[in-house]
Amino acid sequence: MMFELNIVEGKMQYLFDENGRRYLDAFAGIVTVSCGHCHPEILSAIEEQNKLLQHATTIYLHHAIADFAEGLAAKMPGNLKVVYFVNSGTEANELAMLMARLYSVNLGMIALRNAYHGGSWCHWIDSSKHMEGEIHHVVNPNPYRGVFGSNSLYAQDVQDHIDHGTSGRVAGFISETIQGVGGAVELAPGYLKPVYEMICKVGGVCIADEVQTGFGRTGSHYWGFQTQDVIPDIVTMAKALKKCHR
Ligand SMILES: Cc1ncc(COP(=O)(O)O)c(C=O)c1O
Repeated sequence: MMFELNIVEGKMQYLFDENGRRYLDAFAGIVTVSCGHCHPEILSAIEEQNKLLQHATTIYLHHAIADFAEGLAAKMPGNLKVVYFVNSGTEANELAMLMARLYSVNLGMIALRNAYHGGSWCHWIDSSKHMEGEIHHVVNPNPYRGVFGSNSLYAQDVQDHIDHGTSGRVAGFISETIQGVGGAVELAPGYLKPVYEMICKVGGVCIADEVQTGFGRTGSHYWGFQTQDVIPDIVTMAKALKKCHR
């Protein structure tokens, strides 16, 4: 029998189906509602804003945009001080890859197998399709089921792709810092550091997709990439952005 959940209401950590049956949402709406469903403070902030001004484009000044950008930048290490707002996680990743390609003047992006980056090129298109976009999917450094266990040897596959699957230059590397849709799969410890160094050496840009990991959702660190002791060139984020700055 197929189990279909028809969720019609949410209240903080609980969800309710059409029969009023209550469920504990241990998944937080795919880690999107980080403060619970219909949190009263968030509702009142939305209501206040809705009464005042419902839309302004980024071509006009609005303090909220600048305040929010400043708040985000303050949470970032290193030189990560430039913030650009788009519409979704997918769009953020597409823009990040576009920037990597423009910056490096290369097409080839390296991504992990079993990754999810939204409805973007790097999720659906691999280089075998011979379409504009060239994505190389390298071995997933899965510490639980991967061939090298929790060893950081997986980084060698990235070097192998650079050496034998590309012109020797790449646009960049994109990965989640814990794979979300792929099944909450952490990266093998120590994986990102050598990979970021390899990518940097061949002129590429390192992108950390924090759509499911940022904003303290790993528990130990504010950003997932901090668990690997690296600083990316670009960090993309979506879900759970709300309330991070209030
Ligand atoms: C890691 C990751 N990146 C990107 C996306 C895409 O985000 P959006 O659905 O906002 O386009 C998702 C969505 O689940 C995601 O989990």
